[in-house]
Amino acid sequence: MSKNLSHLSGRKGLEYNLFEQLGLSAKGTGTPDKNEMERLQNEFLFGKANIHGTVSFYDFLKQENEGKKIYTCNGSACMTANTQDKVKNEIANHFPSDAIGEMCCLGRCHENSAFHYQGKNYSGQAIDHLQAIIQNQYTYQDTYTVNAFGTPVITRPYPELGEYYEIWSSCLKKTPISLLEELQTSGLRGRGGAGFPIAFKLASCRETESNTKYIVCNADEGDPGAYSDRYIMEHRPHALLMGMLIAGYITGAQWGVLYIRAEYPESISTIADSVAQLEQAGFIGENILDSGFNFNFKIIKAQGAYICGEETALLSSIEGQRPEVRVRPPFPTQKGLFNQPTVVNNVETLACIPYIMELGGTSFAKIGKGKSTGTKLISLDGYFNRPGIYEVDMGTPMSKVIHQLGGGFKIPVKAIHIGGPLGGIVPVHKLDTLTADFESFAQSGFLLGHASYVCIPTSYPIIEYIKHLFLFTAHESCGKCFPCRIGSTRGYEMLEKATTSEYKIDKKLMADLLETLEIGSLCALGGGLPLPVKNALTYFEDELAKYFSAPLP
Ligand SMILES: Cc1cc2nc3c(=O)[nH]c(=O)nc-3n(C[C@H](O)[C@H](O)[C@H](O)COP(=O)(O)O)c2cc1C
Ligand code: SF4
Repeated sequence: MSKNLSHLSGRKGLEYNLFEQLGLSAKGTGTPDKNEMERLQNEFLFGKANIHGTVSFYDFLKQENEGKKIYTCNGSACMTANTQDKVKNEIANHFPSDAIGEMCCLGRCHENSAFHYQGKNYSGQAIDHLQAIIQNQYTYQDTYTVNAFGTPVITRPYPELGEYYEIWSSCLKKTPISLLEELQTSGLRGRGGAGFPIAFKLASCRETESNTKYIVCNADEGDPGAYSDRYIMEHRPHALLMGMLIAGYITGAQWGVLYIRAEYPESISTIADSVAQLEQAGFIGENILDSGFNFNFKIIKAQGAYICGEETALLSSIEGQRPEVRVRPPFPTQKGLFNQPTVVNNVETLACIPYIMELGGTSFAKIGKGKSTGTKLISLDGYFNRPGIYEVDMGTPMSKVIHQLGGGFKIPVKAIHIGGPLGGIVPVHKLDTLTADFESFAQSGFLLGHASYVCIPTSYPIIEYIKHLFLFTAHESCGKCFPCRIGSTRGYEMLEKATTSEYKIDKKLMADLLETLEIGSLCALGGGLPLPVKNALTYFEDELAKYFSAPLP
């Protein structure tokens, strides 16, 4: 990243935003108009190469996206569900091939058969009504179970706006430091994957002096299989928005930025409507409820890039730079968006804050297990008998989640990929040994991550699954460091050759590649890929042996 470009992009402020302008100029055709790119380049004093570097990175801005009218989901859950051939065939009956694109995970993992057409997502049986969808004569609403097993922190219904925002008005009557202490007491840790305590970040941002600070909500939920952030944005938007307001009050930030993935159009519109409600009710804006505190929201629609879920890539993205991961320090709380102190938190993390402020940090800390306090939302895919979003107390046995809540599997399953593409592949015989908390997963060599569950059926070749993970990483790599940029492609090539020819993979070469990725990558995309691959090599050794030249390491 360039500090200079961050500064240049920030000169215009958040409201007239370079990245947003590029997105708007691509709206009609799928890629920004050349003249418009040149105009923006001159206006923001960016180089031509910088703008090109940005535009060519994103699935929904790059030249290849031009003319695309309809997109099929290529995420892991739709892939293992084996529904996409039918979807593609049906779509091919109505659209020429150059009008058909792909999107990575529409968050319809509970129904599969997912596709996106004219700003709307479809799944389940909708593909059988494609002709009517095209003629605008068919609407479709997906359905999934939502349930809490233990304490409903996020899934609890909230009262009407005025009553719910009494939590906010009472916060404004307290000192920011007392609210920060409440969060410290709660032990709330980030739900986006890393489990970092939120109070540390807020304290660091609060202590960094600046006239401008930002609270950024990471709503880029890119992990295929995860749709819990989507659930929150569409069904509990005010828990999230109030969480951001309170985080803003604690740190002295004036802006809440919601970076929401383009693959979730319904989330973007629900959040926009909810922000409008807050404006109307006077809960945001200038001198909120006569407190002297000012806070506004800005929604940024992402443009299709998994790496933008990594917090520093996300900040570069908002600035209109190519979203390359940044070296830390400085941490975003010291030098973040437009070089200003910034807190980046996941949707679910922020949505826990109103509960903590209403019922106290101690009551939140009582839920859960050890250092994993509170609850976790779990996304179950379409191979469960009751797919849906389940809120469980941290520490809940996985067997309960799978059998009591999810109702077990529809077909024989040999493993579950938990925690996104960089999470562990957990063989079914290990599930009973795990509980839903950070420590249990880490101690067993897996990762709770964002707690998405993608089932791998017994009949699904594990080699194809890990090939998919290498390909995914190769596509999504930001390219900053070579182990990830080159290693992911080389890994894919080895697996592809082994499955399509007599070629056998050298086990030492594979071990070297995984080690290089693990220790040589700057971020957890390249660094995290070896975990599921190693799990597969360990737990599915017999199935994989025929692709290797000697016994597995
Ligand atoms: C490749 C990659 C993708 C990520 N994707 C997401 C994401 O989609 N959503 C998210 O909240 N965090 C994601 N993260 C984690 C963020 O970098 C960051 O830790 C998180 O937003 C911090 O919020 P939290 O502390 O509330 O979890 C990703 C990290 C990496 C390395
Ligand atoms: S590991 Fe991959 S995604 Fe992460 S910084 Fe390196 S190249 Fe970029």
